[in-house]
This record gives sequence, structure tokens and C-alpha cells, in this order.
Amino acid sequence: MKMNVLLIPSFLLLVATPPAFAADGKALFESNCVSCHGDHAQGAFPGVPDLVNSGRLKQPDSVLIGHIMNGFQSSGAPMAMPAKGGDSSLTPEDAKAILVYLRGMSHSPK
Ligand code: HEC
Repeated sequence: MKMNVLLIPSFLLLVATPPAFAADGKALFESNCVSCHGDHAQGAFPGVPDLVNSGRLKQPDSVLIGHIMNGFQSSGAPMAMPAKGGDSSLTPEDAKAILVYLRGMSHSPK
């Protein structure tokens, strides 16, 4: 019986946690995207576009989320964006949270 008393509060804690833990765009970007895109999304190496200053983020979410989820290569580009940044567990909600984070970057210092 003593065990139940201990289990109930932790169970309530789990239930009370807001759904989906509100995906953390910054943390997701840093774990999945920064290696290619750089910490200011400026492009970590040649072939990766500056996302902030190139105007690419002006495209609608539906387009950008599609490109993140399915991968993307513009014609003549030297390198492709890998689907989900290579993380098979990335969800469209995660992609959206990352976009919110990226759009919050006002500039990309080199
Ligand atoms: C292996 C390197 C690599 C990784 C990892 C990577 N990207 Fe990319 N990404 C690219 C390249 C290269 C392009 C440019 C592709 C092109 O224009 O042909 C790109 C393009 C993009 C674009 C612009 C798409 C458009 O429509 O112009 C977005 C947005 C983007 N990446 C987001 C992300 C996010 C979010 C992640 C992490 C989940 C990520 N990328 C991980 C290499 C990468």
C-alpha cells in the first residue's frame, strides 16, 4: 500500500504535463541542423545557403515544412537538404518549431 502512495503523485505529474511538451525549436535545431546550417543558420560550410539572409524563410510554412520533412534540392545546388535533417523521428510539429526559432533570428553574423 505504501507503494501506491508513492506512485500516485508521479503519475499525476505525467498527466499534468502539457501535451507534446511544446517542441523546443532551438534545441531541435541545435541537435539536428546546426552541423550543416551553422548556429546562426548562416551555413556551416560552402553549399549550405544562409537561411536567414537568403530570403528562403519567406516561403510559406507549408512549403518549408515540406522541404524539411521530405528533403529538398534546388536546381543546380551543389548539395541537398536531407529529409528531416537526417533524424527519422523529426515530426512536422518539430519542423514548425524550428522555423519559428529560425524566423526569430534577425541577422546572421559571419
Ligand atoms: C547534411 C546537411 C544538412 C542538414 C543536417 C540539414 N540541412 Fe537544411 N539544407 C541543407 C542544404 C544543402 C540546403 C540547400 C538545398 C538546396 O537549396 O538545394 C538546405 C536547405 C534548407 C532549408 C531551405 C529550404 C528551401 O525551401 O529553400 C531549410 C528551411 C532547411 N534546410 C532547414 C533545415 C532543418 C530545420 C534542419 C534540421 C532538422 C536541416 N535543414 C538540416 C543541408 C542540411
